[in-house]
Amino acid sequence: MFRLDDKVAVVIGGAGGLGEACALALAQQGAKVVIASRTLEKLQDTARKIQSVANAEITAMQVDVISESSTDHLVEQILQKFQTVDILVNAHGLNAKMPAIDIDFNKWDVLFATNVKGVMVACKSFGKVMIEKKKGKIINLSSVRGIRGTDGGNTTYGATKGAVDMVTRMLAAEWAPYNINVNAIGASVVMTEALKKALTPERLQLLLSKTLFKKFATPQDIAAACVYLASTEADYVTGQIMYVDGGLTAIG
Ligand SMILES: NC(=O)c1ccc[n+]([C@@H]2O[C@H](COP(=O)([O-])OP(=O)(O)OC[C@H]3O[C@@H](n4cnc5c(N)ncnc54)[C@H](OP(=O)(O)O)[C@@H]3O)[C@@H](O)[C@H]2O)c1
Repeated sequence: MFRLDDKVAVVIGGAGGLGEACALALAQQGAKVVIASRTLEKLQDTARKIQSVANAEITAMQVDVISESSTDHLVEQILQKFQTVDILVNAHGLNAKMPAIDIDFNKWDVLFATNVKGVMVACKSFGKVMIEKKKGKIINLSSVRGIRGTDGGNTTYGATKGAVDMVTRMLAAEWAPYNINVNAIGASVVMTEALKKALTPERLQLLLSKTLFKKFATPQDIAAACVYLASTEADYVTGQIMYVDGGLTAIG
């Protein structure tokens, strides 16, 4: 079960903390994986790292999800190299914490452009190919903040993730006739390098106290959900936000 042999997967944000773990897990299950984002050098380093562990075909390609011509170009490059694409993982994203009365709307716009429009732009470009072949799997990296509020200046980010959840459900409905599964992963705190820098020890302690398992997720916990949602074993699952959150959303 859960094998992805001969599948072509693209992980946008594939050199990020969660994107890299998803790309590695997809490759270990047999997929040919393209990792894509804006910084080619970082992607190439990550591709080498994944290749040394997974011994699989990993390709680094540049994309900026804010631009439709850029995601269309990514699709063209992938079709040229692999002739098809089966799995899209939107693992890109940004956060900028700002108390509500100090919200900088330039930053608000950048977060919405990256986290929401960026997901839709990628889904549109790759969705066209999947609609044509009447098959595809799309997995969006969302967050518990799409459904659970918190203090700490996270309004902008939470609003983007609530929007990603609804984009996920809407596309699942619109593209079900084409056999395309669209799901999201609702992650809570995952210990990535970026997050270690962003949260104070006090904040981490508070978040731990709200998690049933009293520990944070690992990138591999998220990658396992990604593999499942990408596999044929999840063919009957669509429009879902799969919470991998140590039980955070199960309680109050
Ligand atoms: N870590 C967590 O605890 C956590 C929890 C819940 C949800 N999430 C969600 O999971 C996703 C991944 O998080 P992460 O922790 O792995 O973040 P990360 O380490 O900061 O990686 C995010 C990646 O997104 C890429 N990116 C940003 N803007 C882009 C753009 N315009 N076009 C293409 N790529 C872009 C960046 O690469 P470049 O700079 O090269 O473009 C970066 O590698 C995000 O959506 C995040 O909100 C994370």
